[in-house]
Amino acid sequence: DDGNSRVLSVLLAAAGLAVLAICWYLSVVLGRGGVAGAKRYPPAVGTVFHQVYHLRRLHDYYTDLFREHMTFRLLSPGRGQIYTSDPAVVEHILKTNFSNYGKGESNYENTSDLFGDGIFAVDGDKWKQQRKIASYDFSTRALRDFSGGVFNKNAAKLAHIVSDNAAAKQPMDFQALLMKATMDSIFTIAFGLDLNTLSGEAADEGSRFAAAFDDASEFILLRFVNAFWKVSRFLNVGAEAALRHRIKVVDEFAYKHIRARADEMSAGKAHDAESKCDLLSRFIQATTSDSGEVDYKYLRDIIMNIVIAGKDTTAGALARFLYMMCKHPEVQEKISEEAREAADAGEAASIDDFSQSLTDEALNKMHYLHAALTETLRVYPSVPLVSPSIHNSTLQT
Ligand code: HEM
Repeated sequence: DDGNSRVLSVLLAAAGLAVLAICWYLSVVLGRGGVAGAKRYPPAVGTVFHQVYHLRRLHDYYTDLFREHMTFRLLSPGRGQIYTSDPAVVEHILKTNFSNYGKGESNYENTSDLFGDGIFAVDGDKWKQQRKIASYDFSTRALRDFSGGVFNKNAAKLAHIVSDNAAAKQPMDFQALLMKATMDSIFTIAFGLDLNTLSGEAADEGSRFAAAFDDASEFILLRFVNAFWKVSRFLNVGAEAALRHRIKVVDEFAYKHIRARADEMSAGKAHDAESKCDLLSRFIQATTSDSGEVDYKYLRDIIMNIVIAGKDTTAGALARFLYMMCKHPEVQEKISEEAREAADAGEAASIDDFSQSLTDEALNKMHYLHAALTETLRVYPSVPLVSPSIHNSTLQT
């Protein structure tokens, strides 16, 4: 009841404060160079509990620390955490010694309730299989044409909404609109189905799924900075109770569509993998055993990870891009000129005519737009932090 959860919250907060005090003390001692004669470590400049304190300005917090040290530690109960912005160390981890690192057990624990055994959660053979199919598929002409067409269609839909709002002098929340537009695009590419959250009502099944999905992603992220999330999950309280509910909504929707597509394909209807370009159809074909057994859970994990990978990254990058364009109208003007020229569209071209003229060839001519997007990603990276773990076997050698 309310009384008990209040006592529990106070106890958790007190325990958190106690650990914070100990970690802070250790960080001061170790930050001064550590114990004499011990191994050399990067300086400890804080604790994981500082992340909770700085949650609303986490990236600024890291940036402030990186200004002081290219590589540092944040103390954490249970496992060491090293943060680096040093290109040489990044190259060592992501390239030269890639096989020594992986997603890691702790990442799996934090994410698997939503990510399952998808590409973002697993290492080894499962990662390799998904990576291989995804990178093969994304390089095929068919998927590139299909996904290009889907993004183009949804961009035109978005442009109509923006244009109508502008004509009516209605303020609009760009980030929310872009989250809907990218959800619709990625979901169509992944599932072969238009959720139409852009023009849908919040009560729609698709919009309910999309909202539950966004909430679930946020709650999963909180686990990375909340050392006590497992207690909350065990007690089914707070964010963990909400997360469980959101995952249920997400799963019901995803399984419904996966089953329908698998049934269609096994019944050999006209919509078989040859005529369908969406990733679900391709993965059903690639993962279904010879006896026809479909691994629904694995399919759900694979596809949901692609939705996670493509949606917020693209929406965040575009929202920041528009923000930058508002701050730099002269750049906006140059991009608009370049787009008109490359697409060979006149000043008065309608939204639909303009989107029709955006062929691959036209897009390839837009170097200035490419540079502006790249610069936006440099200043506001959609994925500012990745967290590879060192394999246990590497630690022992
Ligand atoms: C602005 C847009 C995007 C940015 C900045 C971005 C960035 C990244 C980064 C930094 C990683 C590495 C993560 C790590 O090492 O843990 C990654 C992985 C991945 N991204 Fe993207 N991404 C974007 C869009 C997309 C889109 C549209 C898709 C697909 C529809 C996608 C699919 C993936 C997949 C499948 C992986 C996992 C690769 C692996 O683990 O081997 N991404 N992305």
